[in-house]
Amino acid sequence: MNILVTGGLGFIGSHTVVELIENSHTVVIVDNLINSKIEVLSHLETLVKQSIPFYQIDLTDEEALTQVFEENKFDGIIHFAGLKSVGESVEKPIEYYLNNLVSTMVVIKLAQEFSVGKFVFSSSATVYGDQDSPLRETLDLKETTSPYGETKTMGERILKDIAKINPKLAISILRYFNPVGAHPSGLIGENPNGIPNNLMPYITKVAKGDLKQLDIFGDDYDTIDGTGVRDYIHVVDLAKGHVAALELVESGVHTYNLGSGKGTSVLEIIIIFQKVNSVKIPYKIVRRRSGDIATCFADVTKVNDELGWKTTLTIEDMCRDMWNFEMKFDNSTRVL
Ligand code: NAD
Ligand code: UFG
Repeated sequence: MNILVTGGLGFIGSHTVVELIENSHTVVIVDNLINSKIEVLSHLETLVKQSIPFYQIDLTDEEALTQVFEENKFDGIIHFAGLKSVGESVEKPIEYYLNNLVSTMVVIKLAQEFSVGKFVFSSSATVYGDQDSPLRETLDLKETTSPYGETKTMGERILKDIAKINPKLAISILRYFNPVGAHPSGLIGENPNGIPNNLMPYITKVAKGDLKQLDIFGDDYDTIDGTGVRDYIHVVDLAKGHVAALELVESGVHTYNLGSGKGTSVLEIIIIFQKVNSVKIPYKIVRRRSGDIATCFADVTKVNDELGWKTTLTIEDMCRDMWNFEMKFDNSTRVL
């Protein structure tokens, strides 16, 4: 299939491009580089040993995107593009609603006009709000803690309305849990600008000595050791989940959790990261972070049964690959 990958130079998009090409699909990337670097494209091309068509376009620019659809015939679209910082979205709600919702609507509108058969949407576990884990796809969605989260809930809603008037369209809504890790080659990974907000990128910077210590946000949750529990998923496993959805989902809307189904605490992650990479992670316990919940992990029965997909990579793999990417990045002048 020929697939349009929006946000294909970002963290999850770039890993999915590799999996798509390794599974004999062809890919066209659209990205405006608001949260990625053009160098990612040459690293991708090195990895897959072929050139990849790329358009630097903002998805809210309908005219520019229409031209991409006129120049290419797409069988499917994977729509990753969007702004993704929970905290920033609280500070800049309009930017988040405008960017995430308008781009999603423009892409879906063109998908319909150009009769594209398959659509995959990046959603998030955040749409469940604070409910007891394991989280099943059948749960009612609760209000999220941020404008970012609301753009995911609304994106899902828009797609469900589209399905009513376009019943042949195969729509996959994929709710990611906590994507981490990097490609084992060390050529692509996640390199957030500034001080990271998320646990794993933060730990990596502490291990490297760029940051002094990790602040653990609370050790008084009702969890195995009092620290927050999340369902971490290796980005390569996550990428494979997109290929499965694209290839197997038939008409209608199908919603799947993409997680491992297992929860891991902050302290457990620290112990594994230190052991696997022979590094030290100094930490201190601080107050809970506002908006955090104690525990969040997926029920993965549906995606296992219907798509035959499950994670194969471990927390050890995630820690090792993130560190490998960080070290390669350090050793070269590459800016990803
Ligand atoms: P990312 O920021 O690394 O990648 C997103 C890409 O989209 C970037 O390259 C950015 O430049 C591009 N982009 C943003 N707005 C655009 C626009 N208007 N036009 C064109 N390109 C645009 O993020 P990621 O971690 O790869 O996440 C991909 C998707 O998955 C996002 O929709 C995100 O909300 C969702 N998601 C991510 C996580 C996570 O923890 N990483 C968790 C759940 C859901
Ligand atoms: N944590 C710390 N210290 C830090 C950072 C995080 O103790 O410096 C803790 C958090 O309190 C939480 C756990 O580590 O218990 C994971 O936190 P992250 O910030 O890495 O991830 P979240 O689960 O808060 O959120 C992430 C994404 C959201 C997404 C959600 C579900 O940031 O966009 O997963 O997919 F919605």
